[in-house]
Amino acid sequence: MNDKIPPQIARGRRPPAIWLALAAVLAVAGYAGFTALQERAGGADAADATDAADATDAELVALGRQVYDAQCASCHGETLKGQPDWRQRLPSGRLPAPPHDETGHTWHHPDTMLFEMTKYGVQKFGPPGYQSDMAPYVDILSDREIWAVLAFIKSTWPPKIRSRQEQIDRRFRENRGHQR
Ligand code: HEC
Repeated sequence: MNDKIPPQIARGRRPPAIWLALAAVLAVAGYAGFTALQERAGGADAADATDAADATDAELVALGRQVYDAQCASCHGETLKGQPDWRQRLPSGRLPAPPHDETGHTWHHPDTMLFEMTKYGVQKFGPPGYQSDMAPYVDILSDREIWAVLAFIKSTWPPKIRSRQEQIDRRFRENRGHQR
């Protein structure tokens, strides 16, 4: 049947419904191609993307450890202890790097917020004009690397802290769902 299509199209005898169907098929194919391109470009919909910092994903955690050592440890500390007196403002008026272990407040935040703070900077969550010593990672790390480093941080938390942060995260996701 397929081999009959070209001559019929050439003679303009196809009923409009076929053209509509064809247009629909092309539109779907086009959209699929578009998303595939986005995926290759490492966009938000990347096939291997994750939208959660899954601390039980060993591969993700291993990647995150590398990212942490290379990008975060210089300020947040090799053992995630943060900078000394991290609650006291520096002479510049800015805050020192807080710990990412159970003594800090990283675990008080849902995954998405930690992701956005790392990607776009903590300024995004501060009052207008807020200044921070931590530069955004949007041009340095891929989304997957950011989720990975957060997964690594979470993997170091004791089970109690992990489950409390999971609750905070779940509540946040549910509320966001309701707002839609
Ligand atoms: C140049 C030093 C520096 C580096 C490098 C750095 N940070 Fe930070 N980070 C800070 C400082 C300072 C703050 C406190 C932010 C503020 O309020 O100004 C902070 C805050 C944060 C917070 C918010 C914590 C909270 O409890 O609110 C997260 C999350 C975070 N950093 C993640 C990261 C990750 C992940 C990396 C590595 C990819 C990283 N940081 C690298 C200095 C740094």
